[in-house]
Amino acid sequence: MAGKNIVVQGAQWGDEGKGKIVDLLTEEASLIVRFQGGNNAGHTLVVGGKKTVLHLIPSGILHPGKKCLIGNGVVLDPEVFIREIDTLAASGIDVSPGRLVVSKKTHIIMPYHKLLDAARESAMAEGKIGTTGRGIGPCYEDKMARIGIRAGDLADPGLLRRKIENALTEKNALFVHLYGLAPLDGQKIFQDMAACVARVVPYLGDVAADIQAANEKGQSVLFEGAQGTHLDIDHGTYPFVTSSNTVAGNAAAGTGCAPSKLDRIVAVIKAYATRVGSGPFPTELGCATGEKLQLNGAEFGATTGRKRRCGWLDMVALREAARLNGPTDIALTKLDVLTGLPEIKLCTGYLYQGQTLDYPPQEENGMAGVTPVYESMPGWSEDISQVTTWQALPQAAKEYIRRIEADLKVKVSLVSVGADRKQTIFVN
Ligand code: GDP
Ligand code: IMO
Ligand code: MG
Repeated sequence: MAGKNIVVQGAQWGDEGKGKIVDLLTEEASLIVRFQGGNNAGHTLVVGGKKTVLHLIPSGILHPGKKCLIGNGVVLDPEVFIREIDTLAASGIDVSPGRLVVSKKTHIIMPYHKLLDAARESAMAEGKIGTTGRGIGPCYEDKMARIGIRAGDLADPGLLRRKIENALTEKNALFVHLYGLAPLDGQKIFQDMAACVARVVPYLGDVAADIQAANEKGQSVLFEGAQGTHLDIDHGTYPFVTSSNTVAGNAAAGTGCAPSKLDRIVAVIKAYATRVGSGPFPTELGCATGEKLQLNGAEFGATTGRKRRCGWLDMVALREAARLNGPTDIALTKLDVLTGLPEIKLCTGYLYQGQTLDYPPQEENGMAGVTPVYESMPGWSEDISQVTTWQALPQAAKEYIRRIEADLKVKVSLVSVGADRKQTIFVN
């Protein structure tokens, strides 16, 4: 996948295996940058049997010498950031300031964001979003309302205190009068944060300038997406979405890299579909096959531990992902999980209000009203988890991959057949 700047993003509902792909592609890059989301993400890397789950720190961190950046589009919980740093440092990984940089424009998740996230979800009788409860939505709300606290503010105690008090004017009205909770004390929040703040400040930097400098030296930058296309705040299954733009275009706005500098877009596609939390999921399987995928794929959320809902690959949803992200390459993951199924189905159209659709309906909750149209393909029974070449894949697996490529008109450049870094087939 030659190209200077590469965006890796999820084409489905998250958990496609982006972490593993970013770790693999880090080999060729100098900088790895997160551009949106926060610690709602859970990106799993397995190297030589050792598992690392990252929520905030870019998935390039296991490669010595590569610089990891957190862009302005991210929302950062300082406590989680410090905890993640300490865990990595304990395994001997260099997480020193300079190797790891946080943009001064990154918004900070505050205790009142987490409280609001939880209060809202528990107050909702129906229509719960099933958020990760990490305060992601409320933090992005404050950013848009122009009352957010940015990482750069942490270096100015007077400003930080004023901003906390200012934000609490509204938040406490909600906590007390709407949710029946005790008001929060701004002074206490400020004091409780002090230790964390002192540790985050040395990491502050200028991410856009670092990207520019790397490119001027001819170095590559890898942009690590979180969540997935159908969780995008604009293009996803609104309102059952996350609160950021997860599509590839946000790699530019979320870091300060010019869009014309993005050379390749890698769409990460899981060989079947999963979703955690609420919201429409047309190909969801409520039967034994769904349970088999859940079990064989070890489909438990890397952040909340919730069981992931499982279903067949949805080409309609993927066509929309291809339209929105314009991938140059596909990384197809978890193909090994389909091994042993006598028949594999793909959803190739949606029946909706008397018509067959090639793309999802665009109205709110449209996806909840569709009936999937399936095509069936033969499965394979050979263990493929140790296969490292295209030639060694069973014919039925090759045909499944070719079917996906033909539909999306994008080549599959990488196939993942197991969680470990080594369990990978580079096609061509
Ligand atoms: P992400 O959020 O997109 O980075 O994905 P997650 O880490 O949340 O979920 C993917 C899960 O599948 C993790 O447990 C990975 O270790 C695992 N995984 C990744 N690729 C493969 C694969 O090809 N086969 C199998 N069996 N597991 C994989
Ligand atoms: P990665 O990066 C899967 C889901 C939540 C919920 C919705 C909104 O690991 O793929 P939020 O806390 O963001 O307000 O929750 O989005 N969600 C994810 N699902 N993978 C993720 O990240 C997710 N991040 C958020 O389950 O349905
Ligand atoms: Mg995940």
